[in-house]
Amino acid sequence: MEKVDVIVIGAGAAGMMCAIEAGRRGRSVVVVEHAAKPGEKIRISGGGRCNFTNHDAGPKAFLSQNPHFCKSALSRYTQADFIALVDRHRIAWHEKTLGQLFCDGPSTQIIDMLTGEMAKAGARLMLSTGVEAIARTEAGFTIATSGEAGDRSVACTSLVIATGGKSIPKMGATGFGYDVARQFGLRVTETRPGLVPLTFEAGLLERLKPLAGVSVDAVVACGKTRFREAMLFTHRGLSGPAILQISSYWREGDAITIDLAPGTDAFEALKAARQANGRRAVSTALAELLPKRLAQTICEGRGLPGNLADCSDKVLRGIGTAVNAWTVKPVGSEGYRTAEVTVGGVDTRDLDQKTMQARTVPGLYVVGEAVDVTGWLGGYNFQWAWSSGWVAGQAA
Ligand code: FDA
Repeated sequence: MEKVDVIVIGAGAAGMMCAIEAGRRGRSVVVVEHAAKPGEKIRISGGGRCNFTNHDAGPKAFLSQNPHFCKSALSRYTQADFIALVDRHRIAWHEKTLGQLFCDGPSTQIIDMLTGEMAKAGARLMLSTGVEAIARTEAGFTIATSGEAGDRSVACTSLVIATGGKSIPKMGATGFGYDVARQFGLRVTETRPGLVPLTFEAGLLERLKPLAGVSVDAVVACGKTRFREAMLFTHRGLSGPAILQISSYWREGDAITIDLAPGTDAFEALKAARQANGRRAVSTALAELLPKRLAQTICEGRGLPGNLADCSDKVLRGIGTAVNAWTVKPVGSEGYRTAEVTVGGVDTRDLDQKTMQARTVPGLYVVGEAVDVTGWLGGYNFQWAWSSGWVAGQAA
């Protein structure tokens, strides 16, 4: 049986970073990946330009049952460290809004950088290889694999679970990491799709159908959490960055409140418009605050085809509330099919925050999205993958 120091299961962002670091320490490393290519999520990320980190990647941008857990890894391998790596590889990048850093060219540059660093560190990649079984031994672990090279067993002292979450099952995401964690007695928190579009019931959808494709700057709130970014009406409900962000906090049964004209008191604006020219149509006045189609739909929904002069303060206040505090209850989300991440995962109580090693199973590590640490939209999830993979790579 082949013996190595470290087996990493999963050649995604976290697994490759971990393999690079362990290899650089002189450990013999094998990375087992069931897909035909490494880093497929990196390839499709950021609209093909990989939003690889965020200037503001601090703990406040992460959800977890223990919000402090991510601090250690994020501070030991920071966004500046990853940017330095990208710069060493002469990969050109730019900052979009909100501290988000994207490649100028294709995301595959990041994959090539990681596979190149793995090769340099002597880490070996086994592609198209599934893991059939994992067993604990006195010296560590053995894994039984099946793949193009046939069935084989590999033994290791350190086993790193870097298999990601359940999002995008079409790309082979299965939640395998949670099963392995449970096999070794680790707890797994409730998991749900995150960074995902939200859906409406049929009646509301019918009324909002004409708005599909309309985008608006909005503040979207769920409980005490709020995000100001673009929001998009879709054929199924709502999407766009503001909705994806809030979806990670939203749970079935919750209402969300949306300010469609942040920074403007729509009631006061309509009152002023009425005073200036009462003969204007309400929807025309509202279209100065909102996209025209949205203004029309709001007025039609309230049976208001008329002029401003026909509207009492009470009516204008009603429109104001519909604009500044539209409260709506999504029925669900588009689910793992389109979710960018999985919220929840391997319980941080069972992992050491400095190394990502399981507290009760020496030699077992869990990194990246498989852990109950989920970032906001905007490069935070990759930063967690780099940071957690890096710290595990120093210890495994
Ligand atoms: P990841 O899922 O990347 O890797 C896991 C690897 O394990 C995969 O290669 C998988 O095939 C493999 N695997 C799974 N089960 C296995 C098994 N049983 N045996 C062998 N191999 C197995 N984040 C961000 O910060 N910026 C962005 O721009 C984007 N954009 C984006 C777009 C889209 C469409 C999605 C779906 C997601 C994003 N994300 C993102 C999120 C980001 O992609 C995600 O958080 C990281 O890829 C997580 O990295 P991991 O290495 O933990 O898992």
